[in-house]
Amino acid sequence: DQQPSRVLRGSTVNFLANPRTNGNEKSTVYIKQGALVLGQAGRILWQGAFSDLPTVYTGLPCDDFGEQLILPGFIDAHIHFPQYRILAAPGKDLLDWLNRFTFPEESRYSSSEHAATAAEVFLDRLFTNGTTSALAFCSVHKACAEALFSAAEKRGMALLTGKTMMDRLAPDAVLDDPETGARESKELLDSWHNKGRLKYAITPRFAVTSTDAQLQLTGELYRDHPDCIMQTHLSESPGEIATVQSQFPWSKDYTDIYDHFGLLGPNSFFAHGIHLSERECARLAEAGSTVVHCPTSNNFLGSGLFDIDHVGNQARPVGVGVATDVGGGTSYSMLQTLGEAYKVAMLKGRKITAHDAFYMATLGNAERLKMESEIGSLDAGKWADIVVLDPKATPVLESRQEVSETLEDILFSLMILGDDRAIKATYVAGKSVYKKQ
Ligand code: GUN
Ligand code: ZN
Repeated sequence: DQQPSRVLRGSTVNFLANPRTNGNEKSTVYIKQGALVLGQAGRILWQGAFSDLPTVYTGLPCDDFGEQLILPGFIDAHIHFPQYRILAAPGKDLLDWLNRFTFPEESRYSSSEHAATAAEVFLDRLFTNGTTSALAFCSVHKACAEALFSAAEKRGMALLTGKTMMDRLAPDAVLDDPETGARESKELLDSWHNKGRLKYAITPRFAVTSTDAQLQLTGELYRDHPDCIMQTHLSESPGEIATVQSQFPWSKDYTDIYDHFGLLGPNSFFAHGIHLSERECARLAEAGSTVVHCPTSNNFLGSGLFDIDHVGNQARPVGVGVATDVGGGTSYSMLQTLGEAYKVAMLKGRKITAHDAFYMATLGNAERLKMESEIGSLDAGKWADIVVLDPKATPVLESRQEVSETLEDILFSLMILGDDRAIKATYVAGKSVYKKQ
């Protein structure tokens, strides 16, 4: 499986480490006249300067992207598949938005046919936005997760998802019960976890919609399968936090509820984490868990401003991922998401460079998922999951590049001004899955 299939030519941007802690120089390799060799088995076989391309590869078909940027594909660390039709639903706050728009829409995913059709639209949308992997929520219905896993498997992509568990405070059509939730999760896990590039994510929606009995069984499932992902929501909105305080009066804080049921661990992903106390951050850091920043969603739902330097405080750093959170999020574009993360940081008096941001959306999220040996950079041996960005995709971007001098300038303009129009091409496992006309 070392058979080469094609060469990609362009300006390669590769990530080696976190620029925040290692500096841009040591963490990023930018080759203006770069090249990649993709293998027939879907991996990157070679990467470097085009002038150094080994002669054995010179006769291969070549996709020449000129001075456009070749990067590792984006990884979305939190997104909801069954919400793909309800972006831009104007809720008063999180709980109102869930009750009025989200739960009714998710109830449609009891139908395998609906879920199968939707999965194709959803995955197409990821690819047109340069996203090659995602940690996704499904609805409560087993059929929904089956449909998304099947569609992702056909596309050869690394997708992580699971059946949502929720057994209270929502319409019957989107509720399970503790035993059914745990049993169906286990069945899905047995069928799909580590099948090809897929992984199972144990998925209790959030403490608001799960009883003690459900959280208990969920914790036991995670204990039995610690190599699965565990994903949920944490400390997103004031109304949600007040609700869980009244539901779990014995808890020290919101994080303590999940901790009590054994849901904190190195493979745990907590979306939002906007209002975390010092104690909660210290405990999440100790557990090695990840908090996922979802800036377009937080701004859209008025949930609050995430403080990246508080959560990521180097004295006890909690790992931070970044994600769209579609359909609370307002864009599938990780470029737009990074731009919004920048603005949120500014409002908190913090700074995110474009190097930091692009690292987070690629190698950073891969490291949090413990998949960095497989995805997240352009190193030889990794899967050829790749996005090509056009820094001159729009007239405004084109003008901006006339005064851009550094890679930081180009990446920064792309994350502030770019969106799906800037996605020139997307490759998954070495295959072209999207090409802009
Ligand atoms: N908390 C519980 N469920 C959800 C959801 O679907 N979206 C968001 N943003 N927060 C949640
Ligand atoms: Zn979410």
